[in-house]
Amino acid sequence: HGDPRIKAISDAIRVVPHFPKPGIMFQDITTLLLDQKAFKYTVDIFVDRYRDKKISVVAGVEARGFIFGPPIALAIGAKFVPLRKPKKLPGEVICESYVLEYGTDCLEMHVGAVQPGESVLIVDDLVATGGTLSAAIRLLERVGAEVVECACVIGLPQVKGNWRLNGVPLYVLVEPR
Ligand code: PRP
Repeated sequence: HGDPRIKAISDAIRVVPHFPKPGIMFQDITTLLLDQKAFKYTVDIFVDRYRDKKISVVAGVEARGFIFGPPIALAIGAKFVPLRKPKKLPGEVICESYVLEYGTDCLEMHVGAVQPGESVLIVDDLVATGGTLSAAIRLLERVGAEVVECACVIGLPQVKGNWRLNGVPLYVLVEPR
């Protein structure tokens, strides 16, 4: 990126060492949200990239995909679909599980929220192993949607060189070192 907005975004993300446990360098996007300019740059960059891509659905991953996804959806004229942790959605759901460091978790989506043939952008704050986004992609593909791209504010080094997940392109703004 030669875009000066990227530095402003990167500078607004607070890194908290040893949170939530020893050795983890936590990437805290709450400080980005406090910086009106940097938050707007983040949304604007995604909106510029996706506005003419005929995307009808922005799917956001709980929890922080619920912060960045809706302003992008509104600006590009798409609907917003939340992909949630288990037992949060009241309607009929489909579920895809993914592996965590200890055990597994899953993401759920309401049946009927996305129609076959729709073009989808998946949004989250951060990609580390890619396990969460892969589960999100599987959910959308199960209902016959086409995932155009996954968009994240932050890509941790472990994802480096793997700019596709299940064949879907991954777009990241900031890569901490
Ligand atoms: C974080 C982050 C992504 C996921 C990325 O969420 O917001 O959703 O981890 O990790 P991965 O690429 O290794 O799958 P977390 O699981 O902490 O859930 P939360 O947003 O509900 O706190």
